[in-house]
Amino acid sequence: MSKNPENISAWTRFIKSMTKVHDIATEEDIMTDHDYDGIKELDNVLPPWWLYGFYITIVISMGYYFFALRGDYNQYDELRADVAQAKVELDAYKVANPDLFSVTNLEVYTDAENLAKGKELFAAKTCTACHLVDLGGGIGPNLTDNKWILGGGMDDIFNTISKGGRPGKGMIAWESSLSKQERQQLSSYIISMIGTSPAVPKAPQGDITWDGK
Ligand code: HEC
Repeated sequence: MSKNPENISAWTRFIKSMTKVHDIATEEDIMTDHDYDGIKELDNVLPPWWLYGFYITIVISMGYYFFALRGDYNQYDELRADVAQAKVELDAYKVANPDLFSVTNLEVYTDAENLAKGKELFAAKTCTACHLVDLGGGIGPNLTDNKWILGGGMDDIFNTISKGGRPGKGMIAWESSLSKQERQQLSSYIISMIGTSPAVPKAPQGDITWDGK
């Protein structure tokens, strides 16, 4: 490789101009009179590479201030626009997937096959974790008695499973993860279990009385 003294000196010059390192031979010129037990302090200038970075951040901050904070843009509007857009998309999704969201013409199944599917879903979808395998109740209420917090009957039970319980109670909405048919199977299974005798029945909760008929 042939050395090019021009290039090297240009590079060295550049580095020197970016650091403004003071020549050690003339150090005395910038020596301050601070002396701490023999440790002395040089009055070096700020290195230009650092200073330029600082200037750049100032320029960027002014740009940010005028374009981001003073302009039309603000985060609240962006959030509102996004939420509005999401609502439009959700509504379109609901229209396109009536099986997931429709709550009309609910069917109460009484045949063995659908009830077996309901029972299977009740375990598979972790309903058993809160309502127990025999529906006697635990974290969630007993589903075999005739007292209901959110309402008995196909419409109300289906609605609870679809939309969830009261906020913070732990009963989530299942309408986006279970089809209408699956929710009907679950509701029908629950209805078919009313009046059975769980091993450790939780005390009745709720003011609404419905005994499954
Ligand atoms: C994390 C615990 C939990 C899970 C899992 C859970 N539930 Fe619940 N469930 C509750 C609680 C708590 C309530 C009471 C809600 C309230 O008080 O608003 C409830 C209420 C209900 C009710 C209404 C009872 C009433 O008295 O009105 C039904 C029906 C129901 N759940 C069915 C289900 C089904 C079906 C599943 C599974 C797909 C399920 N739950 C999963 C905790 C749970």
